[in-house]
Amino acid sequence: MAVERTLSIIKPDATRRNLTGKINAKFEAAGLRVVAQKRLQMTCEQAEKFYAVHEARPFYGELCAYMSSEPVVVQVLEGENAIAKNREVMGATNPANAAPGTIRKEFALSVQENSVHGSDSAENAKIEIDFFFKPEEIVG
Ligand code: CMP
Repeated sequence: MAVERTLSIIKPDATRRNLTGKINAKFEAAGLRVVAQKRLQMTCEQAEKFYAVHEARPFYGELCAYMSSEPVVVQVLEGENAIAKNREVMGATNPANAAPGTIRKEFALSVQENSVHGSDSAENAKIEIDFFFKPEEIVG
C-alpha cells in the first residue's frame, strides 16, 4: 500500500463545538498523521470555488454559505492508503447512515453540518491540497 496525502476540513459545526482535538484524535488513532493544519474562515467565493463540482446541486448555495459562516480547520493527512482510510474514519456523508465509531456518527448534526470533509480520490486530493497549502507548508 502506498503512502498518500489527503485534504481534510473540520467544518464550522465542529469548530464551533470545540471538537478539533477530538476529531484529530480519531485520525491519529487510525494511523493518519496531520502533516499540515491551519484554521481559517473561507470567503463565500472561496467556498464556491472549492465546491464548484457541486454547482448544479440544489444544496450548493446553502453549502457555500455554511462553509463560509464560521472558521474551519484545513489539514493534510498522510498515511498508508490515506484517502480511503480517511473516508472510513469519517463515515457516510449522511450521519444517519454512518457506521458506529465514525466521526460523522459521533459528531455530525445533519447531512450538511456533517463535521468533516475528505478528498474522494487521488486526483481530487492533489487539487484540494493545492487549493489551501503551499508545498513548504506541508511537513511530513
Ligand atoms: P462533503 O463531503 O464536504 O461534500 C459535499 C458536501 O455537501 C457534503 O459533505 C455535505 O456537507 C453537503 N451535502 C451533501 N449532500 C447534501 C444534501 N442532500 N443536503 C445538504 N447538504 C448536502
